[in-house]
Order: sequence, then structure tokens, then C-alpha cells
Amino acid sequence: MFFQQAGVCLCFFAGLLPDILSSVGLLLLHVIEQDLTSFNTLGLRSRARSFVRCVSAEQVQALSALADGYRHVFILGGGSNVVLAPELDCLVIKVETAGVELLGDTNGEWIVEAQAGERWHDFVERCVEQGWNGLENLALIPGTVGAAPVQNIGAYGVELDQRFHSLLAWDMRDKRLAELRAEDCGFSYRNSFFKQAEQGRWLIVAVRFRLPKAWRPVLSYPDLQRHPVLQAAGSGVTARQVFDAVCQIRQSKLPDPAVLGNAGSFFKNPVVSLSAYEALKKEHPDLVAYLQPDGSYKLAAGWLIDQAGWKGRRMGAAGVHERQALVLVNDGGANAGDIAALADAIKDDIAARFGVELEQEPVRVG
Ligand code: EPU
Repeated sequence: MFFQQAGVCLCFFAGLLPDILSSVGLLLLHVIEQDLTSFNTLGLRSRARSFVRCVSAEQVQALSALADGYRHVFILGGGSNVVLAPELDCLVIKVETAGVELLGDTNGEWIVEAQAGERWHDFVERCVEQGWNGLENLALIPGTVGAAPVQNIGAYGVELDQRFHSLLAWDMRDKRLAELRAEDCGFSYRNSFFKQAEQGRWLIVAVRFRLPKAWRPVLSYPDLQRHPVLQAAGSGVTARQVFDAVCQIRQSKLPDPAVLGNAGSFFKNPVVSLSAYEALKKEHPDLVAYLQPDGSYKLAAGWLIDQAGWKGRRMGAAGVHERQALVLVNDGGANAGDIAALADAIKDDIAARFGVELEQEPVRVG
């Protein structure tokens, strides 16, 4: 049964009425036509035909009943890894659940659970403050906790899957809550099972992390090795110092989405075979590349794009950041088409110059 008033309808589900009476959390605030410009860090102009906020994990059942009325559903977290089309003809569910809990400690580990709508950076800082160390290298990554496993976020020598315990996800199709362990999530570099799955099927509810009590700093990344505070601290380095150093390094080279629209790295660092690497290295002795465990090489896409002269270039309202060529920016008023045109031009140029295919990292929606 629906009550509709001035574009806003409060949806009550008859079968859930007893629950609704006992929990105001099941009341869904469902909006027809929602501007999403401020809900994506690229700041692209975008509108959703239908929009609903998920503010409590208990709402998931009601949400999937609502979603049954739509052909397409998109689940939005912090909007930091998406390229949204101007018109989204679907139901957008924005996850805004909150809460962090220490579930326990087993075999010398802290097991910490965060609700999907928690801001990732705030969660990392809270963990460091509590002495639940291990996530500090992932400080200042934009987005929410729920989005973090989807792209298996990583930075400064740590990837989420190294600290992952499990997650709870609501299956919107089969209408059941599933607990997924690392092996179910198919994590790899900036990738997971969720990126391959049908869009809108899995609503990540909460993520659990396994943080070793016997903490050891990860300082392998060159920027951290060079950092004066970490160098001076030597073996006495603390997680807070690593956290602060990561924040400082990121702030020095990555634009703040609140100031300049961006979605972090726009391309993945491409992985090439040993023979392709050797051929490129011969032609470009300064090539930046990292040997992978299987003998292949991961190339620094930022270096390739920079060498090709794209740093700081503009195409209409879209551009390449001046300090980090891997980041595309919205100078104001750009839409998904402007970003796609720039991304395609860069991809074509890198393929022609280096014979390397770049793969876009943020998800295209609509
Ligand atoms: N480089 C250039 N020019 C540039 C950018 C980079 O020459 O314009 C060179 C750097 O000098 C360095 C190398 O490329 O030698 C790698 O650069 P950087 O250390 O900045 O890291 P990245 O490979 O560009 C990756 C992640 C970042 C993450 C950093 C630190 C990907 C796609 N990106 O960037 O992740 O913060 O390493 O670990 O893997 C993100 O995913 O949104 C993101 C920012």
C-alpha cells in the first residue's frame, strides 16, 4: 500500500506491518526523482528516477520488496568509484547504515565489524584510536565500508583482502542474508566477485576485519620509506604515525573530491607479460613497473599517461589532474559523456604509443 504526497511516498509493506510497528527503521523514505550530483565524488550531473536511503540493516527485506518493482537497481555507497550517466532509469539505494563493533579476539586478532554505510576513513581512524591496528595504510580513501570490498581497495602496500574476515550481504534476488568469507569474494587487484555480479543483486550490510594484535607496520612502499617522520621513528614507529604519513602523502598528490571532483585512480595499473615488459623497458628505460608473484609485471599507468603528455590536459569540463596523471577530474559541469570522451582518448593514445590496454577502474552506471 502506498501513500504518495508531493513526490515523496512512504512505503509500508502490509506483510511487514507488525515489524514496522515495532521498528520505525522499516519505514522507507522513497523519493521519486533525486538529484545525485552531490552523491558522486566526480560531481557528475545525474538524476535517479527513483531513490531510497537504507539507514538500518533491518530495512533490507523491505528494500528488496520495493526493488522487485524495478527492472534495474543500483546500490550506492559514497559514490567515489562510479561514473553516473545523466539519467538513471532505475531504483538507486543509498546505503547509510552506521555502527562499529568489536566482535571479539581470537588467536591474537581483533575482529572488528563495521556497518556498510560507515565512512571508510572515519572507520580507519577509529580503529587506529582504539589500537586495532592494520588498516592505517588505507587512510583517507574516499567511500564507504560497504564499497571497500567491492573494488578490494588498496594503497601503500596493503589491500583490503589482507585484513578481511568476512562480510554480510543481503541477496536482493533470493531474499536471504549470506555470510561470505574471503574465498567466496574472489578478491584480486581492484576486483572482487561483486564487480562481476549482476548490478544491484548484493547489498553489503556489514564488513568484518581481522586485525592482528601483534602489529607490524607495512612500510614497503617507496613513499613511506622516504617519509621523514617514519624514518626518524625507526623501529618505534606507531600505527598513528603511519596513518598520519599516509594522509599527508595522499593530500600532497591526490585532489580532495570535496574541492575538485574525482574518483581516485581512473585506470587500473595494467599487468603485462615478462616479454612485453622487456620490450617496453628496452624502448623506455625509465618505465615504472613492479614484478608480480607469477612473473608478470604491473606497469604504473600514471607513468604511461604522464609520459604521453596528458598530465594537466583538459577536454571540455573534464581533465587530467596536474599532480597525478591517473586521476581524471571534473572542472565543473562535466557529465559522464565528457569523462568517457577523455578516458577513451587517453586509452587510444596509450594503446598506440605503448601497445598497452588500460582498463577503467570506476564502474559505469546507466
Ligand atoms: N607516476 C608518474 N606520473 C604520474 C603518476 C605516477 O610518473 O602522474 C609514477 C610515480 O612517480 C610512481 C608510479 O608512477 O613511480 C606509481 O605512482 P603512485 O605511487 O602515485 O601510485 P599509482 O600506481 O599511481 C596506486 C593506486 C592508488 C594508491 C597508490 C598508492 C591503482 C590504480 N592506484 O596508484 O590508488 O593510492 O598506488 O598505493 O592501483 C585509487 O585506487 O583510487 C588510488 C588512488
